[in-house]
Amino acid sequence: MRNRAIVTSALPYSNGEIHIGHVASTYLPADVTTRFLKQKGVDAYYICASDDYGTPILIQSEKEGKSPEDYVAFWNKRDYEDFSAFNIDFDFFYKTSSPENNEFVQYVFKKLQDAGHIYESEIIQFYCNNDKKFLPDRYVLGTCPYCKAEDQYSDLCEQCGRVPEEIDNPKCSICGQTPVKEKTKHYFYKLKNFSDKLYKWLDENQNLQKDVKKYVQNWIKSGLIDWDITRDISWGVPIPLDEAKGKVLYGWFDNHLAYISSAIKFLNDKGIDGKEFWNSADIYHFIGKDIVYHHFLFLPAMRLGIGEEYKLPDYIPTRGHLTLESKKISKSRNWYIGLKEFLEYYPTDYLRFYLVSINPYSQDDLNFDWDQFATKINSELIGNLGNFVNRALGFTQKSFDGKIPKPDAFDDADKESEQKIKTLADDIGKLMEQNHLDRALKKILEFTAHFNQYFQHKEPWKNGPGTNSCVFLSVNAVRSLAIALYSFLPESSQKIWSQLGLDGNVSKQSWDSISEIVLVENHKLGSSSPLFAKVEDVDIKKYKQKLGTKN
Ligand code: 2FM
Ligand code: ZN
Repeated sequence: MRNRAIVTSALPYSNGEIHIGHVASTYLPADVTTRFLKQKGVDAYYICASDDYGTPILIQSEKEGKSPEDYVAFWNKRDYEDFSAFNIDFDFFYKTSSPENNEFVQYVFKKLQDAGHIYESEIIQFYCNNDKKFLPDRYVLGTCPYCKAEDQYSDLCEQCGRVPEEIDNPKCSICGQTPVKEKTKHYFYKLKNFSDKLYKWLDENQNLQKDVKKYVQNWIKSGLIDWDITRDISWGVPIPLDEAKGKVLYGWFDNHLAYISSAIKFLNDKGIDGKEFWNSADIYHFIGKDIVYHHFLFLPAMRLGIGEEYKLPDYIPTRGHLTLESKKISKSRNWYIGLKEFLEYYPTDYLRFYLVSINPYSQDDLNFDWDQFATKINSELIGNLGNFVNRALGFTQKSFDGKIPKPDAFDDADKESEQKIKTLADDIGKLMEQNHLDRALKKILEFTAHFNQYFQHKEPWKNGPGTNSCVFLSVNAVRSLAIALYSFLPESSQKIWSQLGLDGNVSKQSWDSISEIVLVENHKLGSSSPLFAKVEDVDIKKYKQKLGTKN
């Protein structure tokens, strides 16, 4: 682990609201990780941006009668607000349509062209004589040649998931007329040039998930295809060549470059040399498994193409998709829960807790299940973790006037519990470093389960021998818990911190101090109150019924 880090997560399209599926696979794991790195004393920054360009966004803005600029500005702001409400704590949230990114993308294009990695080729594209437009991607609707599903976009059949070579019965999606075929000049990136280097980079990078690596290397073995990086539309980064007027770069050419351009702007504005920082930091790109191809091939190939002026990623944590009640999330079929909507039902930490706990570090899909959500919150978060905090602090309030007593000599049970505190920072830290956030959270729950048992076994309410040690160690365990919990549940951990009567911000406590016994005799606690409220079955029923019924 280096002492600097830049963390990014897949840039959200500025094309609709953030739902719980988005945050589960990328934004939440990246947020937890960045908070943890900061606790470890790493100079870490979480950088994100809205993904503004591309055909779907242009079409949608036209449908709504807005300029694409106004359209993306709306979603950039709304998404940022929703993320903030969920305590996704970006150090910087920018946009791919920023002047800095436009300039950087054009610079990269030219550098790649000078190095001989880009060539021109004439291709045939659909053209609408009525709208006087080329019709890339979603501008053409038709019948899928494979499964015969009607009304599919020319770049993807949603029915069978395949990308048709050529759609049958094509229609312009704006006016419905049948388009003609026209020649147009496009630019191609020689992805093939990088096959060997990409293969080697994948081999050598030990931080990438082995299974992802393996299938990406199989793609390379079966032969990479050069990549069409041109779109004949008006919304995108203009190709910086006189002969390419009216053409823009494909969204996947420019969007990941905004990881770099946004980070550099942010750092330079802070008075830090952005490029130097980037090249001496650990680079993390958190993604969902649907964009593996782009992050394990396009992105590194482009960085290789510009001579590694900006270093390649060290980590690309890739996770599966969230299904909802075992069905694929779909906005068009109304099968989703908006993040904003969810936070009207329950506190942010409930969703953070649940989503981390069901989310392994793997490509496996995970499932949001309302009943499981209720059970986990009620039994694990409240019944185990919250219960321990309430017991330890409540008992100290009641029986010791809120003051930590002087411990007696430790017996075996005390010593075992003291040991749990002393090893906690390492036990959880290792898992966090390996991105096993779900297992780290599980370890925290094991820690509180242990202390619940310890408390039960010691029966301090009987005020027998050993009571003082039990209270002393339990309150210190609550302090350790607050720090360990911070990256997962920032609001609740701060509440615990205040209930402990500690000043300042829990986020500022160093990770290693989790394992120190810091609170001493006579320390006065703050006032206690229950941290969480139970999730009620009637509400869960209501929310389940609401699914699929929004309009
Ligand atoms: O798939 C998506 O949602 C894209 N907007 C992700 C872009 S990530 C990038 F910029 F590399
Ligand atoms: Zn048309």
